[in-house]
Amino acid sequence: MGKAQCGAGPPRPMGAGQGGAVLPRSAMAASLRALLRPVVAAAARHRAFLPPPPRPLLGARACSTAVPGLRAGAPFQFLSVQKTGARQSVGLIRLNRPQALNALCQGLMEELRRALEDLETDPQVGAIVITGSQKAFAAGADIKEMQNKTFQECYSTGFLTGWDKVSTVRKPIIAAVNGYALGGGCELAMMCDIIYAGEKAQFGQPEILLGTIPGAGGSQRLTRAVGKSLAMEMILTGDRISAAEAKEAGLVSKVFPVEKLLDEAIACAEKIASNSKLVAAMAKESVNAAFETTLAEGTRTEKRLFYATFTTDDRKEGMMAFVEKRKAKFTDS
Ligand code: COA
Repeated sequence: MGKAQCGAGPPRPMGAGQGGAVLPRSAMAASLRALLRPVVAAAARHRAFLPPPPRPLLGARACSTAVPGLRAGAPFQFLSVQKTGARQSVGLIRLNRPQALNALCQGLMEELRRALEDLETDPQVGAIVITGSQKAFAAGADIKEMQNKTFQECYSTGFLTGWDKVSTVRKPIIAAVNGYALGGGCELAMMCDIIYAGEKAQFGQPEILLGTIPGAGGSQRLTRAVGKSLAMEMILTGDRISAAEAKEAGLVSKVFPVEKLLDEAIACAEKIASNSKLVAAMAKESVNAAFETTLAEGTRTEKRLFYATFTTDDRKEGMMAFVEKRKAKFTDS
């Protein structure tokens, strides 16, 4: 039965059957061609007016390429992702939802998770940069999407728990923040390992103004980064701090002119990527232990990881290269 339906000869021409007269094959082809002629002509006209293909994201670093692994997957709606740097060793993720100042809707965060997974498994990539636009890194979780959520829904679906993906990536991640990094945007930046800011960046946890509190780690990471007094002040008033204040408080490590920020972040990522990826992941794990545990346990973790580097080819190569007065050639093994 199924076979008869799926494979019952060539498809019937339009107008044939159901009482319509059956045309001879050649006449059918001619009438089809006639029917399609205006469509083909319109398509050709349309092609002539199509905008040119998009320019590479980075003018100066035109060697950027889209990530092959990502090309095979569903296309991104809220991000652009590419590999960049002289050795294509930097994965660059740009949040791209300008109409909502990169508000972190569910779709965007799902795409970010996918992009990070792909870059994490790409052996060429040694560090990742996450950036936004000059106006907004990200203006927070999507308030319109959150507006009608209930406690039951938040609790049973584990709302925002998936965001932790960013903090579990083993490769170093740099947040290059221009413009607003508010609420979830500030939390996203703080999940990264290094924050570089453009001069006009603004950081804040304004959830209190919406009748809620940070929900993606803001109250914890901000307090660890800037201390209790400033974190309390920001979280209780909703006031923002400038890039200079963020630098002074230790939230960001460097501040650059707006136009230079991305290139500087990529340069730092390239420098990180030129070291052993394996050992960089161990170093990252060791630093992160400082946030999770006591000093005694943290130093034990560090010691274990330090000893573990002695099992690697890269540790042997690094020390041998020093002794032989040459640059080390790491193999990430
Ligand atoms: N969620 C959803 N949409 C957001 C958003 C967010 N967090 N932040 C900005 N947008 C949207 C606005 O609704 C507006 O969309 P519309 O044009 O459809 O109305 C668009 O982005 C532009 O924002 P707008 O407020 O007009 O820009 P602005 O330059 O006047 O102000 C901000 C910029 C960042 C100060 C302001 O948008 C703001 O306060 N955003 C919310 C920040 C926040 O509370 N974040 C924490 C969320 S938990």
